[in-house]
Amino acid sequence: MPTLEENKSRWDGTYNWRSAGEEWSSGWGTSSMQWYGTILPRIRAFLPAHTILEIAPGFGRWTAFLKNSCTQLLVVDLSEKCIQACQERFAGCRHISYFVNDGKSLDMIPENAIDLIFSFDSLVHAEDTIIAGYVSQLASKLKQNGVAFLHHSNMGEYGSYLKMQNTIAKIPKLLGLLLRLGVLDNVGLHWRAPSMTARKMEVYAEKSGLRCISQELVTWGTRRVLIDCISTIVKKDSIWCRDNKVFRNPFFMKEARNLANLSQLYDFEATK
Ligand SMILES: C[S@@+](CC[C@H](N)C(=O)[O-])C[C@H]1O[C@@H](n2cnc3c(N)ncnc32)[C@H](O)[C@@H]1O
Repeated sequence: MPTLEENKSRWDGTYNWRSAGEEWSSGWGTSSMQWYGTILPRIRAFLPAHTILEIAPGFGRWTAFLKNSCTQLLVVDLSEKCIQACQERFAGCRHISYFVNDGKSLDMIPENAIDLIFSFDSLVHAEDTIIAGYVSQLASKLKQNGVAFLHHSNMGEYGSYLKMQNTIAKIPKLLGLLLRLGVLDNVGLHWRAPSMTARKMEVYAEKSGLRCISQELVTWGTRRVLIDCISTIVKKDSIWCRDNKVFRNPFFMKEARNLANLSQLYDFEATK
């Protein structure tokens, strides 16, 4: 179970940031292919945005793209090391403000000021209580038509799957065989928060006067198991508000693989 303390000690301490997070984009070829092929198509209706808040930027893998689509960018991370790295990397960008938080509070963010709240590949490691706490603060930070785009864990849906895998793991040869044959997905590999689900996100949003308008449940390094969810959340009186559309997308990693192939042809910065 990834606690706040474990997140802090990993990202602020033991993790080797030599590649600045680019290593997590290898499934897509590069972060550029992942941004333009996977992330941007899902948020393009909301960009450019005047003011963006990025929660948990790490070493700025997505900040590097977000900064080009706004007038003001605020970034908040619980890791001092990450915020310092972003300050150095984006030293020439005067429209970015940086904050280290306690992993829970958005008190430093002005009220009714944010057009887009973005977090990708970070809050998947945050348990339900942390997510509930963040979501409860979003309504006051968003402008009326502001949007939150949050990538989070859906591991909670697979509690019994995880238990079964842990039981089989007592016979390592059998686990290895089932993983190799593709009978089992290795759901324990990605340090997902086991308490969080897409359904909980929907409830937290409703409780905070917000609404999930789309939720895409996706595979992540898995073949079938939808361990993650991407939720788009708005205020109930927003122009974007509508009933939630939920899509269980088992093809997410296929999309990544296709982009990884295309990156060989079209990502000139990476291949020159
Ligand atoms: C796997 S890294 C991803 C960073 C970046 N989003 C990327 O995709 O390259 C996870 C980041 O989330 C931050 N983080 C984890 N839990 C957090 C929380 N509760 N509040 C703020 N930041 C958090 C970590 O400090 C780290 O920078």
